[in-house]
Amino acid sequence: MQMITQMLATDLDGTLVGDEKQLKDLLTYYEGLEKKVTLVYVTGRHRQSALELINEASIPMPSILISDVGTGIYIGNDLKPDEEWNLLMKKNWNPEAIKKIASHYPTIVQQKLPDESRISYTVQEDEGSVNKLKQELLEANIPHKFIFSSGRDIDILPENSGKGSALTYVIEKYVDDQASILIAGDSGNDEEMISLGYPSVIVANAQPELIAIQDHPQLFRATKNCAGGIHEAWLHFYDN
Ligand code: GLC
Ligand code: MG
Repeated sequence: MQMITQMLATDLDGTLVGDEKQLKDLLTYYEGLEKKVTLVYVTGRHRQSALELINEASIPMPSILISDVGTGIYIGNDLKPDEEWNLLMKKNWNPEAIKKIASHYPTIVQQKLPDESRISYTVQEDEGSVNKLKQELLEANIPHKFIFSSGRDIDILPENSGKGSALTYVIEKYVDDQASILIAGDSGNDEEMISLGYPSVIVANAQPELIAIQDHPQLFRATKNCAGGIHEAWLHFYDN
């Protein structure tokens, strides 16, 4: 793959996808640019579920898909798994130990996923249990990352993975040093990538846990929702 010189790395649900009119405007704007903007989708969904959304929302296929909250990376037209990433990311991963501890919490229900490269749960209005599970996993010294989003989704990831770690890997391997980059998100699982320090946008409709993160000099807080916020941020950083 040729090194990327302009990149939009964006979450899908609630960020790129969510406002049809603004999405259309953004895609039309990108089509009119002289230099192609390479699309990298960074989603909580698994590969198949991301492909379904891409189809339903009629958005372009990405050049790179980061799936499963930054545990899967797929490259190129045929979205081939990046095997080097798979090896790096799986180090220290012990899903059995995690499932055993999580089974102590009846309100925390495991999501059905195609594989165990991450273990995710759904909880309804019981943040108390979420905090206790988080604490118990820490005390058990099991290497992992714990991500709570939208007051509902718990993702427990291998410690070397996550949207920020996966995107850093992609940037080092596939993106030119001088590239124009924009990173966009709307919820807790986007915090890690939004906080890397690159030009980034939090869309106006973001969840409270993302709105609450610390500012950095390259972080733009949009006044518009979803793709409208991405468009606003792209013009803010790169329209000159
Ligand atoms: C998406 C995924 C889900 C994940 C959530 C938060 O909704 O489908 O598995 O837990 O994002 O990352
Ligand atoms: Mg989202």
